[in-house]
Amino acid sequence: MKIVALSDALFCIPVDVHTADLFEGIWPIPGGVTLNAYLVKGEKTALIDLVQDRQDAPKQVEEALASIGADFGAVDYLILNHLEPDHTGWLRQFREKNPKAEIIATAKGINLVKSFYKIEAGLRAVKDGETLDLGGGKMLTFFETPNIHWPETMMTWESSTGTLFSCDAFGSFGVLEGRLFDDEFSQTELAAFENETLRYYANIVASFSSFVEKGIQKLSGLSIAYIAPSHGMVWRKDVAGIISRYLRYASYSKGSAEKEIALVWSSMYGNTKKGLDAVIAGIEREGVPYSLHRAPNDNVSYILADAFKSAGLVIAMPTYEYAMFPPMAYVIDIFRRKHIHHKTVLRIGSWGWSGGAQKEYDAAIAGLKWNSLAPFEWTGNPSPQDLAVLESRGRELAQAIKV
Ligand SMILES: Cc1cc2nc3c(=O)[nH]c(=O)nc-3n(C[C@H](O)[C@H](O)[C@H](O)COP(=O)(O)O)c2cc1C
Ligand SMILES: [Fe+2]
Ligand SMILES: [Fe+2]
Repeated sequence: MKIVALSDALFCIPVDVHTADLFEGIWPIPGGVTLNAYLVKGEKTALIDLVQDRQDAPKQVEEALASIGADFGAVDYLILNHLEPDHTGWLRQFREKNPKAEIIATAKGINLVKSFYKIEAGLRAVKDGETLDLGGGKMLTFFETPNIHWPETMMTWESSTGTLFSCDAFGSFGVLEGRLFDDEFSQTELAAFENETLRYYANIVASFSSFVEKGIQKLSGLSIAYIAPSHGMVWRKDVAGIISRYLRYASYSKGSAEKEIALVWSSMYGNTKKGLDAVIAGIEREGVPYSLHRAPNDNVSYILADAFKSAGLVIAMPTYEYAMFPPMAYVIDIFRRKHIHHKTVLRIGSWGWSGGAQKEYDAAIAGLKWNSLAPFEWTGNPSPQDLAVLESRGRELAQAIKV
């Protein structure tokens, strides 16, 4: 499927991208990602968001346009909700094919058009609430939604169909493979996409949760029949559901996360792992759901997603060269950068001769607003007494999460 009609005058061009490259150079996307461009046809034609020059994405868009008798030259307005190159990378080539189209973005977005793509002519900065009448009853309104997740971001609303082109917000990793709308997926598939929406959020949007709340609040008066993001499926059956999920994600940053525990562990020779197993036994006795990730074996993208959504964390690592085990130092640093705040946390670990992990850890988590339970360290192989303490610490953490 190359192009999908949302109405007789509004189309989505979903381009599935499969790549071994990391998204944004950091996040793995084994399930690929869809880049959605949209076409709105009034008397004038607007293309909303473009694609990256990756694989044959631009060619796919071109073929999709051709299937409804359109082409890049027929575009009167190119609306750029967000200037990240996954949606704009092909901008210079677009400009060569269409020198006349007006390129529309926020004032900050126009600055990025100039600096990223060295395009100076045919640019129009729009203000918050400004409208663009395409004729034929098609009216676009632009809403600045800064920092979801770049400062220049806006969303575009088409009033006759009630379509909100939300760019990265409400989007997910994962290709669509011929389907587009939320009601075309099974509950199992939707659950898998929900995980990938959360991972996208935790990886890319989590530092900006207060702006997500402001943006959703600002748009709450709009009548929305479709949420049309630039990645992933278009929501038409459960618009309210995806909005409330997004608000729930935003609230994770403030401490109202799920009653779950994310355990992140590292171990060189198994001593810390033995202690972790005792903690897990304690958590299991309390019946609190948990996720388990090993650093560096598991990619931090997935660690972030589970840590972000969980009210409780266990950080298990040995001492390494008088300090933290280096991969865990990276995990904690990325927790800091991604605002993994307000967690109830148990830190454990083994050391050999004089320790050091705990001291560096305490300094590293200082700004994270964590409620830390008493940490527990032991030397070498944990004794039966150590294991008993560790199991009771696991229970204590789980009890704190359950309330
Ligand atoms: C490369 C390396 C560096 C270590 N550095 C320290 C250290 O600086 N201070 C310390 O107390 N123990 C140090 N140890 C000892 C470990 O912390 C100790 O063996 C611990 O039980 C390892 O736990 P694990 O089996 O979970 O990896 C080091 C061990 C290794 C292999
Ligand atoms: Fe983006
Ligand atoms: Fe994006």
